[in-house]
Amino acid sequence: MGQGSGQITLRAPSNIAFVKYWGKTGRQYPINPSLSMTLSHCASTCRIAYQRRAGGPILASYVFEGTQNQSFQSRVSHYLESITDICPFLNDLSLSIDSENSFPHSAGIASSASAFAAIAYGVAQIKVELGLADAADMPRHASTLARLGSGSAARSIGGPYMIWGQDEGGEGVDDYAVQLPAVHSSFDTVKDAILLIDKKQKDVSSSVGHGLMEGHVYRDARIQQANANFNALLAAMRHGDWDGFGLILEAEALSLHAMMMTSTPSYMLLAPNSLKVMQRVKQFRQETQLPVYFTIDAGPNIHLIYPAQQAQAIEAFITSDLTDLCQDGQMIIDEAGKGAHVIA
Ligand code: PMV
Repeated sequence: MGQGSGQITLRAPSNIAFVKYWGKTGRQYPINPSLSMTLSHCASTCRIAYQRRAGGPILASYVFEGTQNQSFQSRVSHYLESITDICPFLNDLSLSIDSENSFPHSAGIASSASAFAAIAYGVAQIKVELGLADAADMPRHASTLARLGSGSAARSIGGPYMIWGQDEGGEGVDDYAVQLPAVHSSFDTVKDAILLIDKKQKDVSSSVGHGLMEGHVYRDARIQQANANFNALLAAMRHGDWDGFGLILEAEALSLHAMMMTSTPSYMLLAPNSLKVMQRVKQFRQETQLPVYFTIDAGPNIHLIYPAQQAQAIEAFITSDLTDLCQDGQMIIDEAGKGAHVIA
C-alpha cells in the first residue's frame, strides 16, 4: 500500500431509467437490461477521508448534510464490509464520509443512485491512488462497486446514456453499466423536468419491490417485454425517432407501476396528481405535436423528457399547466449529464 491516508471529494449525479431495472438475482444482478439518462444537477457530493485503521469498523463516521446519520451510516457501513472480497485494502482503512445532495433530501427523488455512485467512485479512486488498480479500469470497476450498493447506481458512473444488463444484441453486461455509444444528434441535449407530486418518503422500498418480482405472476412476460423495449428504444434513439422513443418510454414507466400493482402483496406508489399530469401531457402533445413524454421512477413524481431545442414552449406549458399539480408547486429542471467525477 502507498502512503495509506488521504482525502478525496467526488460528485455523482442521479439517473432516470428509460427502460426500467425491476427484479434482481444473485449478487445484485438485474433480471433484465436497462437503459438510463444520467442527470446533471441532481447529484451527491461526497468527501471521503481515509487513513490506516487501528481497530474499529471500516466506516468511522457518516455525516449527511452536516449531521451524523445513523441509518445511512449502518447501510453504508454494511455495504463497505460487503465489498471487502473485491477491495481487501478496505480491511486496512478507516473511512470518514461527509455527503450532501444538491436536491432537497425530502423531495422524494431517489438519492441512493447518486450517493452509492459517489461512494463507489471514491473507493475505486482510492484503490488507484494506493497503486492497487489501473486507472484505465476505473469506470468499470466503480460501476461494479456502485451496483453492489444500489443496482441503479451502476448507471450513474458515466453518461449521458448508460446501459446495464445483458441484452439480446450483446450491448450490455450484468456486472457493470457501460455508456451507450452513438445516439442520434437529436438526443445530444435532452432535458428532464422533474415534477414533485409528493415529497414524502415512499411507503415501499425498491428492495422490497425487487424482491416481489421473485414469484411474480408476470415475471417472465416482464423480462421479455423489457428486452423488446430495450431493443426498440435503442433503435429509436439511434435513428432520432422521438415518436417511437416516447411510446416506449411511457409504456415502460406504466409497466413498472403495473408490476407493483399486480405483485403479492400489491401496492401503489402513484398519486392522483401523477395521473392528472400524464393526462395533461398526452393532451398537450396531441394539440401541439411537441415531443414531450413522461417517465416515472419508483414513486409518484413524474419526469418529463424532451429535447432542449423545444424547451421554451414545453417549459412554458409545464409552468402554466402542470406546476399546480405539484406539491408546493415544486419542480426541478435537469438535463443529460456526464456522470461521476473527482472534484478534488
Ligand atoms: O437501484 P435500486 O435497487 O434502488 O432500484 C431502483 C429501480 C428503479 O429506479 C425503479 C428503476 C431503475 O432502473 O432505475
